[in-house]
Amino acid sequence: MSLPTRSSIECPAPDWFQAPTGHERIWIGLALAWCMVMSLMMPYWHFKGKQNSSGESYSVKPADFIKRTEKFILANTGEESLLEDGIAPIVPAPPGEVYLIAKQFQWFPILKLRAGETYRLHISSVDFQHGFSLLPMNMNFQVVPGYDHVLTIKPQAPGTYPIVCNEFCGIGHQNMVGKIIVE
Ligand code: CUA
Repeated sequence: MSLPTRSSIECPAPDWFQAPTGHERIWIGLALAWCMVMSLMMPYWHFKGKQNSSGESYSVKPADFIKRTEKFILANTGEESLLEDGIAPIVPAPPGEVYLIAKQFQWFPILKLRAGETYRLHISSVDFQHGFSLLPMNMNFQVVPGYDHVLTIKPQAPGTYPIVCNEFCGIGHQNMVGKIIVE
């Protein structure tokens, strides 16, 4: 088969279009069918499955969010403040409101939660946009300054769960790691 010698900056000939035939037709059909399946799965997953967040968010000024977090830390620093990487984990009494600040380049404070208890986890950024990703769960939330994102969480199993930032937020982005301890 010889290809017409036209450069890519010229208009194609008016009769360029040829209806697909044979295998091309089959492949287009398969791709179209898959597109339809994926389109239907989006609303399906909205109602079925556990991948949707509890989806609450409120507006908050960064300075106010810092104040609320400080208040939360003061109210919950107890005798269990053992040192972890130089920072004492905060052990809030369940059930309750729990605060987490994202800022260049850390997640603050380290939280120690109890398995099987329900918490309302407030997350906000006090500078730029960050991405909250809790490992090894497949979850990822955008953390935007000015918004108090509230996730209702119920830790299932004891362990140390790293939090990584997966929104590029500056020169120290790759070092922006925190953790939630569950006991
Ligand atoms: Cu914070 Cu990347």
